[in-house]
Amino acid sequence: MAATSGLRFEPIGPEIRDALEEYLNEFRAVDTHGPFDLAEENGFAGVAGYIEFCRLAAGETPPVPGLVRTDALALLRDGRVLGEIRIRHRLTPDLEIDGGHLGYRVRPSERNRGYATAMLREGLARLRALGLERALLTVDGSNAPSLRVVEKCGGVGRDEVPEGSGPLNRRFWIATAPLEGKRGEQGPPGSFQEP
Ligand SMILES: CC(C)(COP(=O)(O)OP(=O)(O)OC[C@H]1O[C@@H](n2cnc3c(N)ncnc32)[C@H](O)[C@@H]1OP(=O)(O)O)[C@@H](O)C(=O)NCCC(=O)NCCS
Repeated sequence: MAATSGLRFEPIGPEIRDALEEYLNEFRAVDTHGPFDLAEENGFAGVAGYIEFCRLAAGETPPVPGLVRTDALALLRDGRVLGEIRIRHRLTPDLEIDGGHLGYRVRPSERNRGYATAMLREGLARLRALGLERALLTVDGSNAPSLRVVEKCGGVGRDEVPEGSGPLNRRFWIATAPLEGKRGEQGPPGSFQEP
C-alpha cells in the first residue's frame, strides 16, 4: 500500500496537460484500450481532445448524447499522473448496468499501491458533498483487483447483471460517508433508484 502523503487531486484540464500526455502515452504503449477510448471514438483526438471532452462532460452539455454530468479528476504525485476517477452526478438506466456513479483507472506501472482505493474514497467523499448518501459501483465480475478495491471501501454486493457478451457485471452500493452502522448498507430490495 502506498503512503497517501503527497497525493493530490486535480481536475483533468490544461493545467496538467504535459503530465496527462505522459500518462496517456503509457496506456498507448501497453494496451489497445485506454482512458481516451470514448473521447477518441467521438472525435476528440489526442491529449487536447481528451481535455476538451472532460471539460464538456463536467458541464451542462455533455459531449456525447446520453452522458451525464461527470467530474474527471487526476491523482498526482510529484507532478506525475498516477490515475484518474470519474464522478457521475446521477445514474441512468444504462449506468445502472455498466458504469455506476464512479469509475477509476490507475496507470499500469503504478498498480497495487493503493491508489485506486485512495481515489474511490475521494470519489465517495465528493458524491457525499453533492448530497448523495450512497454510490452505485458496477464491476466486471472477472476484474479481481477492482472487486478488491470496492470491498476495501465497504462495498456490499447487491446482484449481478449481464453486460454485453462478457462476464456478468457485479453491482455494489457503498455509503458515501463512514457513518457508524451505515457503511455499505444495502438499498431497498430490487431497487436501483437514485439514493
Ligand atoms: C482496477 C484498478 C483500478 C486497481 O488499481 P490499483 O491502484 O492497483 O488498486 P489498489 O492498489 O488500490 O488495490 C488493488 C487490490 O487488489 C488486489 N489484487 C491485485 N490483483 C489481484 C488479483 N489478481 N486477484 C485478487 N486481488 C488482486 C491487490 O492486492 C490490492 O488489494 P490489497 O490492498 O488487499 O492487497 C487497476 O487495476 C486498473 O486501472 N485497471 C484497469 C481499469 C479498471 O479495471 N478500472 C476499474 C473499472 S470498475
